[in-house]
Parts: sequence; C-alpha cells; structure tokens
Amino acid sequence: MAYLIGIDIGTSGTKTAIYAENGQKIASHTDEYPMYQPQNGWAEQDPQDWWNAVLSGLSAVMAKSGLKPDDIGGIGLSGQMHGLVMLDKAGKVLRKSIIWCDQRTAEECVEIEAAVGGRARLIEITANPALTGFTASKIMWVKKHEPEIYEQCAHILLPKDYIRYMLTGEFATEVSDASGMQLLDIPNRCWSKEVCDALGIDMSLLAKMYESPEVTGIVREEVADAVGIGHHVPVVGGAGDNAAAAVGTGTVAEGKAFVTIGTSGVVFAHSDKVKIDAKGRVHTFCCAVPGCWHVMGVTQAAGLSLKWFVENFCTPEIEKAGKFGVDKYQVTDDEAARSVIGANRLIYLPYLMGERTPHLSSVCRGSFVGLSAMHTRGDMLRAVMEGVTYSLRDCLSVFDEMNIHPTELMACGGGGKSPFWRQMMADTFNRRICLPNTNEGASLGAAILAGVGSGAYTSVPEACGAIISSERTSDPIADNAVQYEKVYKLYDSLYGALAGSFDELAKL
Ligand code: XUL
Repeated sequence: MAYLIGIDIGTSGTKTAIYAENGQKIASHTDEYPMYQPQNGWAEQDPQDWWNAVLSGLSAVMAKSGLKPDDIGGIGLSGQMHGLVMLDKAGKVLRKSIIWCDQRTAEECVEIEAAVGGRARLIEITANPALTGFTASKIMWVKKHEPEIYEQCAHILLPKDYIRYMLTGEFATEVSDASGMQLLDIPNRCWSKEVCDALGIDMSLLAKMYESPEVTGIVREEVADAVGIGHHVPVVGGAGDNAAAAVGTGTVAEGKAFVTIGTSGVVFAHSDKVKIDAKGRVHTFCCAVPGCWHVMGVTQAAGLSLKWFVENFCTPEIEKAGKFGVDKYQVTDDEAARSVIGANRLIYLPYLMGERTPHLSSVCRGSFVGLSAMHTRGDMLRAVMEGVTYSLRDCLSVFDEMNIHPTELMACGGGGKSPFWRQMMADTFNRRICLPNTNEGASLGAAILAGVGSGAYTSVPEACGAIISSERTSDPIADNAVQYEKVYKLYDSLYGALAGSFDELAKL
C-alpha cells in the first residue's frame, strides 16, 4: 500500500500529514509563522517561512511515521488562495507575498473593471467582480507602486504553487486555486487572454494550468533526500484550501456543501454546472473535481475574529487552559456558553479585515454594537462567535437566491471542532451540521487528490466515497432558531447603518 502526503500552506501555519490510502492519518506536523501587517489593512507573509515549514513538516512526518522513503506514493498541495508570489528569472522571490486578506488595492479594483470594459464583463469571464483580495489587483498594485520589482518579475505564482516550484522545479498551477487570481476564464477553465491583455499582464508570467488530480512534476532528488522520501514521488495539482477541504469533507457532488471556520470562514456548495451570481456577492470557482465548479461565500475574519479577541482580551482563560492542560478555545467556549443567545443584546460585526460576502468592502471594520457596563468577557466572546456565524448565514442567503439549497453542511476548520459552535451554526442556519469522520479537511483533500493522480483511486468522488462519512450531527433546536433569527435580522441591518461611517473612518 502506498501512503499519501497532504501539505496545506495555511495563513497561521503549514500542516503536513501522511495518510494511508483508506484516509487513516499516520502522522502530522504543523509549523506556525507570522503574518506581517505593515499598515492598517495590509497583510504579507514571507514565502521562505512557508518553505521552511514544508521542509520541517516533511522531515517530521517521515520520522514520526516510521515509514520507508519508498512508501510514499504521492504528494498533494493545498493552501491559502490569492496570495501573490513574484519570482525573478533565476527563481528568486522578489518581495514578500501580498496575501489574500490584504486590502490595499481598492483603487486597482476600480481600474481593473474599467480596463476590462465594466464589472458585468469581468463577472462573465472571471465569475467575480474585481476584488481587493484577489491576485490580479495585487499584481496591478506592484506594477504601479513598485515598478522596479515588476520589471524583474519573470514568474507569478500562488502560495502553494511556489511550494510546488521549490519541491519540483516546475511552474505549474491548477484550476481551483487559479480561479482566485481573477485572470482565469472560469467557464472555460483556462487563462483569459482578454483579461490579461486588458490589464497588460504578459501571459508568459503565468504558470502552466492543470486539473487538480493531474501530476504536475516529481520531487527533486536533493529535496527528497533532505526530507527522507524516495525519488520519483509525483506532486499533483492539488487545490486551493477550500476546494481541497471540499474533497476532504466529501463535498464533491451536486447538493453537497460544507462550512469551515479557519482564519477566514467559508460556506461552499458543489455544482456540476457554472452558476454565477450576477451581483458578484459569492465566488464561483472551478473545483477540484475535473469539469465541475463550486460556489462559495467568504467571511474575511472568522476564526481570526475569535483568535484576535482571545489573544488580546482573554489572558485569564489562556492561563486557566495552561493550568489544566486543555485547549484555550475549550475554556473560551465554556465561558461563551454561560452567556445567552444574543449575548445579552450585544452584536459583533466581524469586519476586522474588510468583508467579502455579501458586502464586498475593503473599508468596513469590526464593531461591537450595544455594549453596556453589565457585559462580561463571556458576553463579548459569545457575540464574536455569533457575529461570525451570522456572517456565514449571509452566504447561505445568497445561495438561496441562486437556487442552491443545501439541507445539511459538513463542518470543518478549527471552529468546526467546537460542538458549541456547530450547534450555534445549526440553530442559526436552521440546517443540519455534520462532523466528518475525519477532521482533516484540506490536507486530507490534497492527499486524496494525490491518490487519484497516482492511480490509487479512479476518481475524486470514488475516493471520497471510500474514505469520508458523516460521524456526528447537530440538528437545529427550534426554540433557539427562533431566537437567533431575531438577532440575525438586527445584525443584518447594521452594515447599512454603519457603511457611511466606515467610509469616513477610512479617510481619517
Ligand atoms: C478564499 C480565501 C480564503 C483563503 C485563506 O477565497 O480568501 O479562504 O484561501 O484561507
């Protein structure tokens, strides 16, 4: 039996894991690294940090697993989408990567839509309006503000595709991650000459395109020797983190959906056909199943909202967790659970990094509305978790308008591990939330793609059918659903009420 490696280059860290062909996890290792925020709304990472994490992750999982180098049958990559990595012609990184949650490119977005002949035409081709998070606007920003860097640029890669280059020496990408660059013709699954020409981006800078399960290269011998894997290990296309999580949760057929709470939060539905929201409130991307697509809505700061709150304001809970040797989020969950639905009339808007679904704003910012002297840290914690959940529910409302009605969602990501948060989602969405038998998400999805590419399985749906099932479910509690609905309505009205103030605040 061959073993498969999945590597997920996330925003807070890189997870490397080895799985048996039946999906059983054999070993895993995560290395964390910083996100730099040189200005309000900017976000960068150092590609060298990702590469160091991959090297140490591969060495660690090989050592922990006790496997022999030749036991490894393939590697799949997944990672944070949209990040811009620029290399010179010698393959050297030219600047830190401007990553997905960076919001500096509002001006470039206006210019992109004008250059392509308007928002409607851009949505027709790339299935999305110009977005600050997407790669095209980041490329245009560098072109305008750092022309000396742009002149030296010979290759443009996404984060996981940079790792592929370091592993194999190949400049390659695949359709799911490339969908988030805003340079892909989404219905036709190829680079758009029309968009590249309109933006003056030379198509030779872009990587070769594959479908997710296809083999894109072989690990270089010096890298293989350094980390202890055999020679000739194939690296498949892999997928953007959400498309990979879809595979890792079995969301690979019409009617299936998942919700993830990682740094960002995503609600994702598979679709056998291209379905595009003409208002551009949710993304339509190519998915990791060849010939299929998915629709997804994004909350920019989901887990990030909780992490931010806990790290800044919950020292006692962190200390308590340390003392009892439990996860700090278990302690904060318990504290939030002692508050009540609606957090005693406190509402949190999770716009720490602007927002995508459904508001598409780079200037809106997080807010607590309704603070009173009676509120406790527990109320605030609960309000943060509820605000994130309402924002995810916004995504489902847009899906409804597009005639996409999933009745249940698999939960994954750090937030999906919390029974308290899963019940909150079930009650707020008024839909069943399922926990998959494996809580591995994107790294397992990437490994499954490696299994398909290396011939262990015949197709992505076949592999998922053999590996993934739903283990536990949270069903909506009718009474709770009614109470959450009332608070959601109020939450829903707040963005409109505050939008003008967010604009003013950004100008201060
Ligand atoms: C998706 C998105 C995030 C990142 C980081 O469009 O921006 O999910 O991939 O996880």
